[in-house]
Amino acid sequence: AKITFITSDEQSITVEGNSGNVMELAVKNKIKGIDGNCGGVCSCATCHVHVLPEYWDKIGAPSELENDMLEFDENISDHSRLSCQIQVTDAIDGVVLKVAK
Ligand code: FES
Repeated sequence: AKITFITSDEQSITVEGNSGNVMELAVKNKIKGIDGNCGGVCSCATCHVHVLPEYWDKIGAPSELENDMLEFDENISDHSRLSCQIQVTDAIDGVVLKVAK
């Protein structure tokens, strides 16, 4: 799947992956602002992204556990997700994610 990240300095970077989760893909490609400090176990929120609204249906809503974690982040939006909780599959090909500040 091809995934595009928009960084906080407005750069648009498209990367490709076929396995793992979106946080791992971002870290591997050195996407600025996605740190993945907890290693992808949904307990740090350093992998927070805002899904562009038109892609929200493709990605879907966070789980209850993920929501609880997101609530600690002051920049939460209606389209917030923790990228370590999004699996990289063909189902999300073409989505655009804005890296949260
Ligand atoms: Fe820690 Fe996603 S990497 S919550």
